Amino acid sequence: MIFVRWVDEKYSVNIGEINQQHQRLIGIINEVYQAKVENQNRNTIAGILEKMVDYTKTHFQTEEELMAEHDFPELEPHRNAHQFFVTKVGEFSRKFSMNDDSIIEEMLDFLKEWLLKHIMEMDKRYAPYLNERGIY
Ligand SMILES: [Fe+2]
Repeated sequence: MIFVRWVDEKYSVNIGEINQQHQRLIGIINEVYQAKVENQNRNTIAGILEKMVDYTKTHFQTEEELMAEHDFPELEPHRNAHQFFVTKVGEFSRKFSMNDDSIIEEMLDFLKEWLLKHIMEMDKRYAPYLNERGIY
């Protein structure tokens, strides 16, 4: 079941590894959605959320290292945006683990909107900068 669909022309940053990671993140959001639609048990959903938190950290680290390595001037605000997202996902995950199932829909909407907007507005700012430096 698809909740977020990857659209190459809209979301590609022209960097293979980053595109793959973004697609994987979208895949995990879809897993949360599917688990909810299928009324999977709490442990299953909690497990997917944990995977989301872990993978998000890995992905943000990849981006931040690339930006740092190439002296991208907007690293700091970008890092702050990532930190905001990690905090929010951690909060949702904690609320869910305290038996608050009602947050799932709000969380799904947040994940989808934040991630797509972040890719299109912030990630697309480093994309041409890194492309110019031979990173694809
Ligand atoms: Fe980013």
